[in-house]
Amino acid sequence: MITATETKLPHIKTALPGPKSKQVIDYDAKYISPSLSRVYPMVAERGSGAIVEDPDGNAFLDFCAGIAVCSTGHCHPKVVAAIHKQAAELIHIAGTDFYHRHMPQLAERLVATMPKSHNWKVFFGNSGTEAVEGAIKLARYATKRDKLIAFYGCFHGRTLGSLSLTASKNTQRKYFGTLLGGVEHIPYPYSYRCALGHGPEECGGEIIDLLEQQIFKRLFAPEEVAAIVVEPIQGEGGFIPAPLSFLRELQRICNHYGIMMIMDEVQSGVGRTGKMWAYDHAGITPDIVLTAKGIASGMPISAFIAKESVMQWKPGSHGTTYGGNPVCVASALATLDLIEGGLMANAKKVGDYIFSKIGDWPKRFKIVGDVRGKGLMMGVEIVRDHQTKERAKDLRDKIVVNAFHKGLLVLDSGENSIRMSPPLIIDEEQADCAIRIMEEAIRETEKTL
Ligand SMILES: Cc1ncc(COP(=O)(O)O)c(C=O)c1O
Repeated sequence: MITATETKLPHIKTALPGPKSKQVIDYDAKYISPSLSRVYPMVAERGSGAIVEDPDGNAFLDFCAGIAVCSTGHCHPKVVAAIHKQAAELIHIAGTDFYHRHMPQLAERLVATMPKSHNWKVFFGNSGTEAVEGAIKLARYATKRDKLIAFYGCFHGRTLGSLSLTASKNTQRKYFGTLLGGVEHIPYPYSYRCALGHGPEECGGEIIDLLEQQIFKRLFAPEEVAAIVVEPIQGEGGFIPAPLSFLRELQRICNHYGIMMIMDEVQSGVGRTGKMWAYDHAGITPDIVLTAKGIASGMPISAFIAKESVMQWKPGSHGTTYGGNPVCVASALATLDLIEGGLMANAKKVGDYIFSKIGDWPKRFKIVGDVRGKGLMMGVEIVRDHQTKERAKDLRDKIVVNAFHKGLLVLDSGENSIRMSPPLIIDEEQADCAIRIMEEAIRETEKTL
């Protein structure tokens, strides 16, 4: 059996799923909630670097990283050592009631990544959606306003507050009843489908007009709006980067009306785009920044980082039992050492390399409409026809499943896009392998037309 530690390229030796994987899938079907939406039958047994192995000994090249979580790769030895060490010293004490040095240690490291123009404070939770919930509460508390603005296509989580912002797929909201009141959604700047035909850097001006001329004049007075919540690159919605000029305009509006700008970096943050935070590319200063996923290489921790002037709530107004758990913090500190010690630079280098090879896919393949993203956050939009841009979900699904059978893990995203978000450790040889498999999968799917 090839083990994940012995290979850096995929190796498929059984039909998929293999017999042992099949047993796990049947076992899972008996006990696990059917609400989970697995795209293909991948069963993970062990992982190392960018390779995940299934119980049948098949090795997959992982261009998902557990939805952009395993930023340092699977089981990076330094992360594993930090977790082991901390687990032997102190696993839990509840930062909401007791002090422990781990929380301020990680908070100091996060604050060091923020714009120097302000002082910042940090609240730790356990998941992305918890960071969103906490940020909504903080924005309401700080402004004494309750209205919220979010974007179509955005994904901010599945608990009832964050779900009120999420506007990605209606299955995520269907039958869950009345959500938070006072939430308005506006279009996200999506240059490939810009109604005005504007390119990636100009698109979005009309949305700023809509906000100021329609929403603020006809729906909510801006003085009632607590926050605008935005992903700098939509993740679940299709890996769609907002133009930097758009983010700057949003910041202008927020500053002008005293609205909190909440930057959801849960998927795009922690070095993945070649900078610590995707909003750094725009040179702006949000009021509240949310992080989770890639921050701790797979251990469950999230944080929201707010300007000190904003995070002024009283003891008891917000808390959590597990947030800032010492073992998760140890993993996050080791992760940040690795990200800042070279992986962020690698994300830019290998990301640029991949874009230089796949940027012309829309010219080479009639079903690839758009290739977009930054660093190692790469989206590919699949269409039936370049002219009509008709969304081709069925073809997208075929490509994703075909890539799996060839040993490459990628995920669907949005209605008809593919997302690639590998660990930040990948090298050019692994990038070439992923590109080759994707090209084969696209070509074979085109032939079925
Ligand atoms: C941008 C963004 N925000 C929030 C979340 C919710 O995170 P979690 O699934 O950890 O609750 C996600 C998850 O995909 C996300 O991509």
